[in-house]
Amino acid sequence: MKIRNLIDFNDMTLDEWEELCTLAFRIKKSPAEYRDVCKGRIMATLFYEPSTRTQMSFQTAMMRLGGKIIGFSDPNSSSVSKGETLRDTVKIVSAYADIVVIRHPIEGAAYASSLYSHVPVINAGDGGHLHPTQTLTDLMTISELKGKTSGLTIGCCGDLLNGRTVHSLLRALMRFEGNRFVLISTPELRLPSYVVDELTANGCEIKEVSTLEECIGELDVLYMTRIQRERFRSPEEYARQAGVYRLTSDKMQLAKADLAVLHPLPKVDEIAFELDDDPRCVYFEQAENGMFIRMALVARLVGAERTGRAPAYPLPEKSFCSNPRCISNHEKYLPYLTKAIDGEVRCHYCDHEIK
Ligand code: NCD
Repeated sequence: MKIRNLIDFNDMTLDEWEELCTLAFRIKKSPAEYRDVCKGRIMATLFYEPSTRTQMSFQTAMMRLGGKIIGFSDPNSSSVSKGETLRDTVKIVSAYADIVVIRHPIEGAAYASSLYSHVPVINAGDGGHLHPTQTLTDLMTISELKGKTSGLTIGCCGDLLNGRTVHSLLRALMRFEGNRFVLISTPELRLPSYVVDELTANGCEIKEVSTLEECIGELDVLYMTRIQRERFRSPEEYARQAGVYRLTSDKMQLAKADLAVLHPLPKVDEIAFELDDDPRCVYFEQAENGMFIRMALVARLVGAERTGRAPAYPLPEKSFCSNPRCISNHEKYLPYLTKAIDGEVRCHYCDHEIK
């Protein structure tokens, strides 16, 4: 694999994805064969935001590969609470460890970290922006169940505005031939325009609806999500959106016999409890796949040559990104970096258009 960091699934070619997925299935089949692959290696998990599955699956992935782990799950117990910059933390931790996994509440924090890390960086979720290793998990599960990741009708339901797992997944699925997307949300929680624009520019067919009933029958995959309480400005705004979507047995009766219901978890009340026993609901199997695909990813990235000092980037004179949730507006030393996507100039950290 050529990539050094995994910040965005789209950093990878589809061939690299195929290779990774094949490896994950091999590990799932014969885990013992891989138990020494990371012997003597150390992974740092820097979790600035709560996590159960992602953090534990990365940690167990490294342990099952024979490596060791360091890190924090509560930034208040580290020097971050004394005001240390992200850059300083990353420089130091990447001198201790062979690979860094970071989750952060601010968009673009993982990419910013990769600028200063001596070792590969994996994005384990950056605010409401992206969550590429959840996407690896989702694609592996879809591929396992459907035998393909193309030519499918995929519905995404819930908080499409703030759900980073949905942003990452749709941007990945748009690269496979013939996928159709049905977006199920309230007007307030629609998919952000920068993701919609990218899907449209890639020629994807998108349908936006407001209820599950009107589309569940046509879906091959239904990706349910939680309303992201922590990303709302006020409890009142959250309360207006909470509980709008609920998958129940009645609605499942309208679905295809081979529908696959995925959820990145944690789920709150968006799926009725009794559906956990419906064989079409595969989120627990999906969470298990997360460990195998992370084992494959870590095995592939760890051991990349260490880099020396990061270049001395020129400091920007003023803020350049209009997104208040972008890391460039929180860590002021970050250089002005942009990228072009479909002819638009975007902020390299958070993907928002630079005007
Ligand atoms: C997701 C996340 O953190 O974005 N969880 C996860 O990583 N499995 C989804 C969520 O928190 O709703």
